Amino acid sequence: MYLGVDYYPEHWPAEMLEEDIQGIKELGANIVRIGEFAWHLMEPNEGVFDFSFFDHVISKLKERGLSVMFGTPTATFPAWLAKKHPAILSKDENGQTRVFGGRRQYCFNSDVYRRYSARITQKLVEHYRNETAIVAWQIDNEFGHEGSDMCYCEQCHVKFQQFLKNKYKTIEALNEAYGTIFWGQTYNDFSEIPLPKKTITTHNPSLQLDWARFRSHSVNSFAHEMTNIVRRYKGDHQLVTTNVSGGFFEKWFDHEENVKYMDVVSYDNYPVWGGLMEPIPPAAIAMAHDFNRGLLGKHYWIVEELMGAQGHNIIGYLPRPNQAKMWSYQAFAHGCTHMLYFRWRGMNRGAEQFCYGIVDHSNRRGRKYKEVQSFFADIAKYESLVQTDIQADIAVLYDYDNIWSWRFQPQSEGFDFTNELLRLYTPFYEWNAHMDVIPVTRDFSNYKVLLVPALQIIDEALGKRFEQFVAQGGTILFSFRTGLKDKQNNIHFKKVLPGYVNDIAGVEIHEVESLAAARRMKLIGEGAFAGKTSECSVWRDLLTPVTAEVLYRYGDEFYPEAAVTKNKYGKGTVYYIGCGIANAALRDIASEVLAAGGIWHIQSDEGVEVYKRGKGSEQYLFVMNHTGEIKRFQTIELQPYDSKIIKIS
Ligand code: GLA
Ligand code: ZN
Repeated sequence: MYLGVDYYPEHWPAEMLEEDIQGIKELGANIVRIGEFAWHLMEPNEGVFDFSFFDHVISKLKERGLSVMFGTPTATFPAWLAKKHPAILSKDENGQTRVFGGRRQYCFNSDVYRRYSARITQKLVEHYRNETAIVAWQIDNEFGHEGSDMCYCEQCHVKFQQFLKNKYKTIEALNEAYGTIFWGQTYNDFSEIPLPKKTITTHNPSLQLDWARFRSHSVNSFAHEMTNIVRRYKGDHQLVTTNVSGGFFEKWFDHEENVKYMDVVSYDNYPVWGGLMEPIPPAAIAMAHDFNRGLLGKHYWIVEELMGAQGHNIIGYLPRPNQAKMWSYQAFAHGCTHMLYFRWRGMNRGAEQFCYGIVDHSNRRGRKYKEVQSFFADIAKYESLVQTDIQADIAVLYDYDNIWSWRFQPQSEGFDFTNELLRLYTPFYEWNAHMDVIPVTRDFSNYKVLLVPALQIIDEALGKRFEQFVAQGGTILFSFRTGLKDKQNNIHFKKVLPGYVNDIAGVEIHEVESLAAARRMKLIGEGAFAGKTSECSVWRDLLTPVTAEVLYRYGDEFYPEAAVTKNKYGKGTVYYIGCGIANAALRDIASEVLAAGGIWHIQSDEGVEVYKRGKGSEQYLFVMNHTGEIKRFQTIELQPYDSKIIKIS
């Protein structure tokens, strides 16, 4: 098991190296991650390559038995490169060039940038291909983060037009697909197609979705090019990875595609960052782990785990004693197998002065150091446990085309895709059931339950896959706006909603209403849910049951239509959740689904997460108290932010 820290030896006086290595050793670490922003150190002038600094560092780390993860440095290019080739710099929506000074200001479509990136990556990897201490290569750093996946420069414009030409072949085909007859936007030639920058009102939805796909192609073709270079020049003993950042559903690139040629996924886990006054909800942290595990369908690394409060110009919440440690247990519960903390020591100069590390600027070892030390000592005992497979009967499905479609047209001021995914995920999380968060294109036939949040793009083929799944006995929970659109981002014509799933859902939708963010509408239970009430926000589909039974109805004098329905189809069941329903109501539905499917789950108090792991007769529970209060789980008392690994058989 690799346990370690992100270390930037170039930030500190050379004479501190041995002392730092000693401190890192005493922490219980066996790996450090280095190098990912050090292009200038390796190529101080064009074509002059010098790896002597890292040769020395690596030899010292190696002497003390530490392994190394090395990052290729393309997220921060040298100033000489920007000066010589200003066209490598990306542009924002207003056409403003992102000047040298921050990071990741490069345009993924700059051929010049790709040439220089390919060269430094090759030189670096070739130089260290036989270095036994280097066990993994990290490509670039947090692709697309901080808005860097968007660029509106001239290079992107030309390549976008080319991308569309490759896709549609003729301009007539594009005109037809987009419906450019609307507002007289018909194009005579691909060279007339604009970048969807700001304009009066809004762009064509098909154009916008293609633009998002083009952004994804831009990021991923760069990532694939760099990955191929690393694969070609690396040693056989070296793995290839990249670090996925948080906010992955807000990115303009498909993450599964991004990592597809990597050996392993790595994730940067920051449950609280910047000015947040409190951490994101425990379910959201858990979902991020399940998402990362889902990218390659296997265990993953965390290469940046938070310990001190962090942010650039604004910082917020300081994790309470043992809270960051508890997040580390949670990560291992959900399938992380190797972990590195960001960062060894906070830097007193440069843009990240307020990214506190395990050690602070004072260079004293304090609470955080002891917390990490005790965590490493404990988790190391569970090496074989954390390697066991995670079996989930429930899959949560997402699709980047669908996410982007929503992003351009949220339809409700209260709509946020991540929130809608969490709306379905959270009640099952609260029952401590295992879930995989996976792309909709993945084979889902072996799951028992599918949670399908706000999937407005469903074509005929996908509709058939859902139909077969249910016919064979599966259960699906759809939420609102399901099946509205085709892959062109156009609304299905001559189709009653929910489009290609209306048979299996057993409902028809003839009218809808946006409830924005603040509007609440009452829900009244019926049948098995009689006597219950709830409420909804964000959106409501007015459901007309055809074969479905009604579970909740809108408490509205004009449109008291069904809000939540349940339908039997073939051997399976489909729930249609037509609105942004409150959590408590979904908890009941989750409990019914879990019981009907015979899916493992366990009761725990609010704020206490339980995750079952093990193999055969050796079963354990990871128990995490996400609250600042004393809690109980069965007979066990949990201190604030306590974590325990309990053997149950
Ligand atoms: C990200 C980056 C790091 C650093 C941290 C700060 O995750 O990968 O380089 O900026 O955030 O918290
Ligand atoms: Zn560009």
